[in-house]
Order: sequence, then structure tokens, then C-alpha cells
Amino acid sequence: MKKSDVVHLILGDRLQNPLYSESATAFAPTNIALCKYWGKRDSELNLPNTSSLSISLGDKGATTTLQVKDQADDQVTFNHEKILSSSGFHKRLTAFLDLFRTQKSLHFQINIKANIPLAAGLASSACGFASLVLALDQLFHWQLSLKHLSILARLGSGSAARSITPGFVEWEKGIQDDGMDSYGKLLPETWPDLCVGLLMVNQNEKKISSREAMQRTIDTSLFYPLWPEKVEQDLIHIKKAIHEKDFLLLGKTAESNALTMHGIMLSAWPPISYYLPETISAMQTIWALREQGLALFFTQDAGPNLKLLFLAHDFERIKKCFTTMELVKPFLPRVFNKT
Ligand code: PMV
Repeated sequence: MKKSDVVHLILGDRLQNPLYSESATAFAPTNIALCKYWGKRDSELNLPNTSSLSISLGDKGATTTLQVKDQADDQVTFNHEKILSSSGFHKRLTAFLDLFRTQKSLHFQINIKANIPLAAGLASSACGFASLVLALDQLFHWQLSLKHLSILARLGSGSAARSITPGFVEWEKGIQDDGMDSYGKLLPETWPDLCVGLLMVNQNEKKISSREAMQRTIDTSLFYPLWPEKVEQDLIHIKKAIHEKDFLLLGKTAESNALTMHGIMLSAWPPISYYLPETISAMQTIWALREQGLALFFTQDAGPNLKLLFLAHDFERIKKCFTTMELVKPFLPRVFNKT
């Protein structure tokens, strides 16, 4: 099945609707997975091999403004800088927008502003595609459900399925070939004391995309077949931890899940490592602090940066050890009550 078939399933006649606003703007938060998505069962539709569960990062994310323009092609800016049409980023965006053009001559000015670095393992594609889908929904007056918005965002980038709403989101893998049962669902729980600390050790673009890294892991790692089993267990523990506000269980499970994902990647061939010396050194500091009784854990995505997990009352102590860490409170009321 192709992406355009899914778009037809969701939008049907609305794709022909010539009515649209001149411009629309939407924000989507970025998210980090506490239980990761690593591996696709369908790489065209970004359907995952396993379910995953994330938390959004408060007001960290992307705001996309879409304007319909009378011009020969799409123009893109990222944080006010023009993106060349020959770049991979531009091509990925325009290919995605091709799915929604009511007529071939319809072109857009796309301005994306993000308060996180692009492609440094901070899920910039997740909030980028989610905010683009939310802006398209407004522009074309579709009024889609959260489920359909999540499915469309997934067609742009898998983890974008979890960035349509703030909060804890579980992306169920689904079993259908068309992926209509594979989308992000908001969990009812909040956890105001839960903090995420962004520890940037390097802001450069990652050397290997998560798409390529996932495929290589599946193709070559002897350990990949164990991954779905690990995820199944971890999801049970993370949901229990969220429900019972058991921080030690949450932290331990999230850290172990991330380490397992990176361990499996190391066993791929050619090996994949997103570690830098600074990543390892920060991990060792975290483990030493934990030995001293501090409830501090981390998770890591497809990049060298760590996201620290802790509770609000430990912030001052942790900030002393990681002075450059940026604090994110995912359930800050002004962000969380927006939707
Ligand atoms: O959505 P993608 O293709 O950028 O993949 C995201 C993969 C991880 O960030 C490493 C894990 C996750 O679940 O977000």
C-alpha cells in the first residue's frame, strides 16, 4: 500500500475540496520515547514492529506556518533561514506535501520555527511533521480526529505519530496492512513533578539516519529478534509506573530500554553507535550519583545527547552536577492545558 492510498482513506472527497485559508499556523511538541520505536514492519507507511510510549517535552517543539502561494515550487525556511530545494530536508517536505495538493499547481511557503536542534536526536522530525499536519488540517478545514492526524503525521516520520498531543502517548503498533490501527493515543495520566533534563553534548546532525540505522539493525543484528519481547515487558512496567507514580520503576525501565536499543545497534554490522565520549562520561556520572542514592536516570535517542529523568525536588542537586542541562517540565500547566 502507498502513502497516497492512506491519505485517500482518511480524506476521501475532502482532497478535492478547493476551499482553503490563505495561511495556517500550528505548534506541536517534540516527544521522547520512554519505550522506543526501533524497526519498521512497513517502511513505506512507517508501521512499527512494536508499540512505543513517549512523553512530550513541554513547550519544546516546532511551529509551522503554511501559506498558499502563487509560485512555481514550495519555499521552505527553518528558523528564518531559507532551505535549498536541493537539500534532503526540502525534498522530504515537498514529497510529503505532494500527498495533499488539491491541484498540481498548488504551492506553499512553509516556515518552520523550532526551539530544538535539527536532527540531533531530539525528535525534530517528530514535531516538524506533526506541526505540519496540524497546520494542513487548519488550512484545508479538514477537522480531522486525533487518530487521523496521528496517522497522517506518521506517514511523514514514525515518531511524529506521538507528537499530535502533549503528555504521555502510546503509539500502538497495530496489525492492519493499511496501518489504520497504528496511531498515538493519549494516556489520561499527568505527572506534574516529572522533569526531563536536556543534556546537549553535541548539536551536529546525526551521521546515520534512524531509518537507515533501524533497517541495518534488523538486517544484521543477531539480537534484534529479542527486541519485541523486551518492549512488551517494558511497556507493561512503564504504564504501571505512570499509573502508580512509581518513579524508580519508570526511570529504571526507560534507561534499560534505551541501553538495550543502543546495545542492539552496536551489534549490527557495520556497527552503529550514537555515542560520543561525552555521552559515556555523562552516563558514568549518572550511575555514580545513583550509587549515592540520587533517583536520576537517562534515556537516549538516535543522537549523542541524553535526556535526564528525575523528580522536581532533586533539580537543584542535579543542576550542580550538570550545569549546562536545560530543564523541561512536560506538564507545565500553560503548555499542557492548551489542548
Ligand atoms: O521517527 P524516526 O524515524 O525519527 O525514529 C525515531 C527513533 C527513536 O527516536 C530512536 C526512538 C523513538 O521511539 O522515538
